[in-house]
Amino acid sequence: MTQASGTPSRPHKVVIPVAGLGTRFLPATKAVPKEMLPVVDTPALQYIVEEAVRAGLTEVVMVTGRNKSAIEDHFDRVPELEAVLEKKGDRVRLTAVRRPSEMADIHFVRQGEARGLGHAVLCAASYVGDEVFAVMLGDDLIDTRDLLLERMLEVQLQHGGSVLALLEVGLENIDKYGAVAVQPTKAEDVVRITDLVEKPPSAQAPSSLAIIGRYVLAPEIFAALRDTPPGAGGEIQLTDGIKALATAGLPVHGVVFTGRRYDTGDRLDYLKAVVRLAVERDDLGPAFRDFLVEFTGDLTRGDSAVAERSND
Ligand code: G1P
Repeated sequence: MTQASGTPSRPHKVVIPVAGLGTRFLPATKAVPKEMLPVVDTPALQYIVEEAVRAGLTEVVMVTGRNKSAIEDHFDRVPELEAVLEKKGDRVRLTAVRRPSEMADIHFVRQGEARGLGHAVLCAASYVGDEVFAVMLGDDLIDTRDLLLERMLEVQLQHGGSVLALLEVGLENIDKYGAVAVQPTKAEDVVRITDLVEKPPSAQAPSSLAIIGRYVLAPEIFAALRDTPPGAGGEIQLTDGIKALATAGLPVHGVVFTGRRYDTGDRLDYLKAVVRLAVERDDLGPAFRDFLVEFTGDLTRGDSAVAERSND
């Protein structure tokens, strides 16, 4: 990833896999892609694109599958609706409606079969070319006050190679994630990754540090993924491709994240994410906070109080 002058250029491409079936949210995801489920009033996926754009990643490729046309519609213009809002003079909603189509340069590639995250990333190879790029997974929302992706890009510039986001999840949860073996570096939040295992049983995990859904990857990952056989769950795993890079001696580092992460991957975590983000909002936050205080008070006094109140 060097320009003619030999100066490293800033990455500006990001791959966002969105082909997952969203089975954990059925029946909501029967016709609506899980990435389009609203977190307060904005689809989860729009938060991801906002984060990418803020970090300078304005060329986005989404790897889609069947039933994902709502995603393409969301990031496209909608002249009829815009005309109605314009006529009404509703500038606020007009801006909100236009924003997704203006925020980035968005492309779509199709993953014909669900063969795993590694395979999804490989589908974007010809679009990315020979450049360092990012991968962002839609289930992880990172608080806008915590500049994780920016830090990862900085670490990539410093060390070269690839950089993954890591989170301490405890050994009891590690079997849901890719796990890593690490060595410390001079920077407190940066580790060198020496080994990776996808979804290990806790007894076999190299550590309790999990990979979360932000990656900055060297383009060598594509050759590695082409040679990666199906792994955990019979799928081509991104973790296994990155392990091949580390084994070949290419630098792979991790940024250990200690900020605020909102997991929207399963129903309970999704509910928590909606509540947390709603509380933070300037418009809805104060009234919603008041409601929560009253509601949790009811809950601590006992369910009967809640029942009485709801019968009022
Ligand atoms: C994927 C990756 C896994 C990573 C996780 C982060 O798993 O394969 O290594 O830890 O994302 O959310 P998935 O959640 O798609 O099963």
